[in-house]
Amino acid sequence: MKHNVSPSTVSRRQFLVHTGAALAVPVIAPGSVFGAAGQPAPSGRIALGVVGWGMQGPGNTAAFLNIPDCHVVAACDLDKNHLQSAVNTVNGKYGNKDCQAYHDYRELMARKDVDAVMLAVPDTWHALVATEAANHKKHVYGEKPLARTIAEQQAIVRAVQKNKVIWQTGSWQRSVENFHKAAEIVRNGLIGKVSRVEVGLPAGHYDFAGTSKELLTKLATLPDKPQDLSKIVPGTAAWDLAVTPPPADLDYNMWLGPSQEEPYLKVRVHMNWRWNYNVGGGQLLDWIGHHCDIAHWGLGFDNEGPFEVEGQGEFPPKNAIWNTSPKYRITAKYPQDITMTIAGGYGDIRGGTKWIGDKGWVWVDRGGFQSSIEEFNDMSRLPENLRKIKLYYSRNHQKNFIDCVKSGEPTITPAETGHHSAIPGHLGLIAMLVGRKIKWDAKQEVIIGDEAASKLLSRPYRSPWKLA
Ligand SMILES: NC(=O)c1ccc[n+]([C@@H]2O[C@H](COP(=O)([O-])OP(=O)(O)OC[C@H]3O[C@@H](n4cnc5c(N)ncnc54)[C@H](O)[C@@H]3O)[C@@H](O)[C@H]2O)c1
Repeated sequence: MKHNVSPSTVSRRQFLVHTGAALAVPVIAPGSVFGAAGQPAPSGRIALGVVGWGMQGPGNTAAFLNIPDCHVVAACDLDKNHLQSAVNTVNGKYGNKDCQAYHDYRELMARKDVDAVMLAVPDTWHALVATEAANHKKHVYGEKPLARTIAEQQAIVRAVQKNKVIWQTGSWQRSVENFHKAAEIVRNGLIGKVSRVEVGLPAGHYDFAGTSKELLTKLATLPDKPQDLSKIVPGTAAWDLAVTPPPADLDYNMWLGPSQEEPYLKVRVHMNWRWNYNVGGGQLLDWIGHHCDIAHWGLGFDNEGPFEVEGQGEFPPKNAIWNTSPKYRITAKYPQDITMTIAGGYGDIRGGTKWIGDKGWVWVDRGGFQSSIEEFNDMSRLPENLRKIKLYYSRNHQKNFIDCVKSGEPTITPAETGHHSAIPGHLGLIAMLVGRKIKWDAKQEVIIGDEAASKLLSRPYRSPWKLA
């Protein structure tokens, strides 16, 4: 069956109807209200700069390199080896030497001939790089979670709205068939009135960069042979072995950016920064922009939020090498009597997103779909007669971004959506850290009556970095 809803054929008004984006009026209004749609569509190919060439940057860029309407003209990274690899990849694809290399993203953003940027930098950097991009009128494909804190997310949304640029959040699951089918089933009421949602995320710490092996070999020379990086703290022989001078190829001082000053530990820089709250947000914030994003999509809550959040989590010592919560369970209460459980490391919550209604349930994950309503299991897409509400349809997240830059239409995952998708994760972490239930005013976007918790909505910036 051919899809009949595509970003290029849906008008802005229809888009609001399809997505329900017009239903709620939060403090931060949907981007479509401010609209990039009023802007002239750039003609010809979109000149794209890519920032961050680690785990995700290359994959995003590979997709952009395959889009004829897009031309990658610049690459930026703080690691000379990564930057060289980016430039080689782009030039290798085009068979020329035109891709320009940048160390400082601000120089790339200042280029007038760059229309758009792809940002795949660690979470600590999202807000600074994204607002710089938007303030230079660049359209942005920006990675999830929208930012390291809620206040930084708000700054991104404001900059995107003020500058009327197109934003695509890297929550690419929206551009995959089984997630679309699941969300449409729920949105069309086909499992009845939803009362519970389960969002299952990974637990623990995972050595993405493969750098822990080298350290563990060094640590094996110590009498107590420590093996667990979440137990090693400053002031121990193990910590001293983990700290080394940064490599000459990496500008470590700039890499730390607005995070607090701390020594270089190879095991928590590239890719594994996720396990250090100074830079990232652990499994919870790494994944919230995927499965909670899908949960909201199905519920029609792209501009909605919980009003009460509580959580329990296990925490390593605050100053441990890997210090993010490896096991956590969050309960978020939403309007319409809906309770969402977000958990990592609890066997009763299956990985992925599960909506439970009074007529049945639907579960979806990467490569997986299941429903208690048997007929849905064999369908690749929902039949037209059941699609009273048609959700935005995209099958290529990067192409959707380029198409929207050209058309001026909102993407499938605008900044406001990415913002709301990550909020339950941020609030869950805050609730766990303060050790009590928090109340959230989803319209004003403030925590009610809890000064200590409110402080965690933002974080101090290391000088000289300032969020405008
Ligand atoms: N959508 C997805 O499925 C997905 C998957 C993985 C990662 N991500 C997201 O992508 C982002 C990057 O994650 P990663 O795993 O690729 O990290 P990474 O550490 O592998 O790569 C980040 C790169 O950015 C560079 N960098 C850091 N600060 C910079 C700056 N100020 N200017 C230029 N370059 C800078 C680093 O040197 C590194 O090369 C994160 O936000 C992460 O959540 C998304």
